[in-house]
Amino acid sequence: MKYMQKVFMTVFVMLVAVGTVFANGGGESQSGRGKGLIGVVMPTRSEERWIKDGNAVKEGLEKLGYTVDLQYSDDDIPTQSRQIDDMITKGVKVLVIASIDGSALSNQLANAAAAKIPVISYDRLLMQSRNVDYYVSFDNYKVGGQMGDILITGLKLAQATAAKPVIVELFAGSPDDNNSVGFYQGAMDKLQPYFDKGVLQVPSGQINRAVIGTLRWDAAEAQKRMENLLSAYYSGDVVLNGILSPYDPISLACLEACKAVGYGSTSGKPLPIVGGQDCIVASVKSILAGEQYATVLKDTRALGAATVTLVDTLMQGKTPTGLDTTSYNNGAKIVPSLLLDSVIVTKDNVQSAVIDTGYHTKAELGL
Ligand code: BGC
Repeated sequence: MKYMQKVFMTVFVMLVAVGTVFANGGGESQSGRGKGLIGVVMPTRSEERWIKDGNAVKEGLEKLGYTVDLQYSDDDIPTQSRQIDDMITKGVKVLVIASIDGSALSNQLANAAAAKIPVISYDRLLMQSRNVDYYVSFDNYKVGGQMGDILITGLKLAQATAAKPVIVELFAGSPDDNNSVGFYQGAMDKLQPYFDKGVLQVPSGQINRAVIGTLRWDAAEAQKRMENLLSAYYSGDVVLNGILSPYDPISLACLEACKAVGYGSTSGKPLPIVGGQDCIVASVKSILAGEQYATVLKDTRALGAATVTLVDTLMQGKTPTGLDTTSYNNGAKIVPSLLLDSVIVTKDNVQSAVIDTGYHTKAELGL
């Protein structure tokens, strides 16, 4: 009897062990890889936000017992493709991808689908492929609307008239990033009535997204364009009052170009009203110093947490619920999306929106 009990216990322990291995996605030992290996690819390490994003996703997943392979792609498409191929070979259970060029990864996505690896498109929508399972981002059209609102408020457009038009130049994001479309469209839909009334004018005439785009969100390229615009269209007494900017480093670069030709000094030409996006430390400092007017805060911690929950749901074999199934068509399908809210930050709410929430500490902001 004792012997039979021992045999029973041994078989029971073996079954529990086998069950645990299968529950973890098969093949991986509990000690070796925790609950499973998750691949996370971010576009570049040279921008503050993606480092925060990468850390938020990695830390959140590790807390739940997953192992994370986090890679940054140096804004180089072949590097990103290779990193994803490697992750598929390593047997990741879920792929989280923030792309460089949203349309450049179709082969990798097909390989992931063939290996039954769910793909989460992170912040930037992966385009022209059916092999994208979910999209986690902010409401990019609303973010664009906030960029427009920043100019409407900062330039007091409601009170302005066509007799004394307000002068602006426009910048857009990278043409290969689908977010640029939402940002531009959201902003232009807010600003269009003021263009129609002649209250807002663009001396360069450069308004189309194709013309005002900034490949790879490169601030140096934007600064060069701003310098060229200033020298070509702002001689004499034409004064630039505002700039539509989709990204904090572009905002700061444009302000530098303006300072270099005398804006913001005692020359009587105040710095133009400039918004931005990402709420980076340098821009918050600039806002506090009265230079950049505002930015849009997209809390990367919230995006990271939403992504972690989605990965965990998929790993438990459950179907995510409450997703938006109408807004984001990637050209091949509508991708079920989770869209978070963003917040405009001006000098007035840096304390409550940025410091009190712990997004940046006082020390980081030099306060
Ligand atoms: C992101 C922005 C970011 C930009 C440049 C966009 O796809 O949504 O938050 O500023 O890329 O990295």
